[in-house]
Amino acid sequence: MRVGDRNYRTIWLADDGETVAVIDQTRLPHRFEHLALTSCEDAAKAIERMAVRGAPLIGATAAYGIALAMRSSPTESGLQQAYTRLLATRPTAVNLRWALEEMLGSLRDCPPEDRQSTAYARAAAIADEDVEINRAIGRHGLPLLQEIAARKNGAQVNVLTHCNAGWLATVDWGTATAPLYRAQGEGIALHVWVDETRPRNQGASLTAWELGQQGIPHSVIADNTGGHLMQHGLVDIVITGTDRTTRTGDVANKIGTYLKALAAKDNGVPFYVALPSPTIDFGLTDGVAEIPIEQRNPDEVAKITGETEAGTIETISVLPKGSAAVNYAFDVTPARLVTGFITEAGVAEASVEGLADLFPDRATTC
Ligand code: MRU
Repeated sequence: MRVGDRNYRTIWLADDGETVAVIDQTRLPHRFEHLALTSCEDAAKAIERMAVRGAPLIGATAAYGIALAMRSSPTESGLQQAYTRLLATRPTAVNLRWALEEMLGSLRDCPPEDRQSTAYARAAAIADEDVEINRAIGRHGLPLLQEIAARKNGAQVNVLTHCNAGWLATVDWGTATAPLYRAQGEGIALHVWVDETRPRNQGASLTAWELGQQGIPHSVIADNTGGHLMQHGLVDIVITGTDRTTRTGDVANKIGTYLKALAAKDNGVPFYVALPSPTIDFGLTDGVAEIPIEQRNPDEVAKITGETEAGTIETISVLPKGSAAVNYAFDVTPARLVTGFITEAGVAEASVEGLADLFPDRATTC
């Protein structure tokens, strides 16, 4: 997608064909900087400190992390160590495990001398597959927005989204944003309510930035505003992403998603989740009980980072000294609150049957 007058993906190979380049998302929206990853440890640290984040991009970065590891240790133990290190970086997004298992599957029977080239090729394929998945999500999500636009006689369609499930969270296009970018291309008048998404502000810092680069009208709102907007008819549809979705349709996503889903249900606003199939965990049945929820450093709640008027980036404390903070990074929205999934294979009901119909092979192998 666009940054200024150039098109970017979030992850690519540098000119040497081996160094992995990513956008340092901890610096956005105030600085647009790249990071060079030259080892598996670099990739693991980039995921841990959220220089790269978002379920699909975490998966693609981990895949390249394995490729980087194969440069120096293409042995069985090198592969296992890289897998274990990368898997431990973040617990909730299942794309991480999915991508690592795809890499293991490609490398297991590969002789050590071929492992580096095979790993780079499989990581590139995982990145390309993500782009195609998101493109298809855009295609399948478009009719939902077209229907609303037609019902409103072409008046602006108001979409609410939470966190960043945009192109920055994927390799390109985004999941929740893919239908929006597609609708923009079709000339549909859009306006996006962007939840700021405390504590790390992925909405305010990332979604607002990428929508701005793409020229989509949007307004950042404090996280508690969505319910009020829905009560006043100012939200036509909610579209969020997901980090892990059970076979029954329960959705783990950024903390606060559940509250938006409750408000949407109470106000009759359709609540859709953009769901790439690698984010489905067909082994899980009960999202609340079974999906591991990441707890992060309480400092992310206690402090806030931004740009001063003088143009410096600073972090300040927002809590009284001595107050404790707790930082749950995700919550689970039960399937009963989800109107539907927008997947690469079509729109599905949030249920065992809905997902199994669209992905029969994966549903039966788990
Ligand atoms: O903690 P983050 O920024 O990695 O969380 C990201 C989200 O919750 C996204 O909504 C999710 O990963 C889907 S991204 C297409």
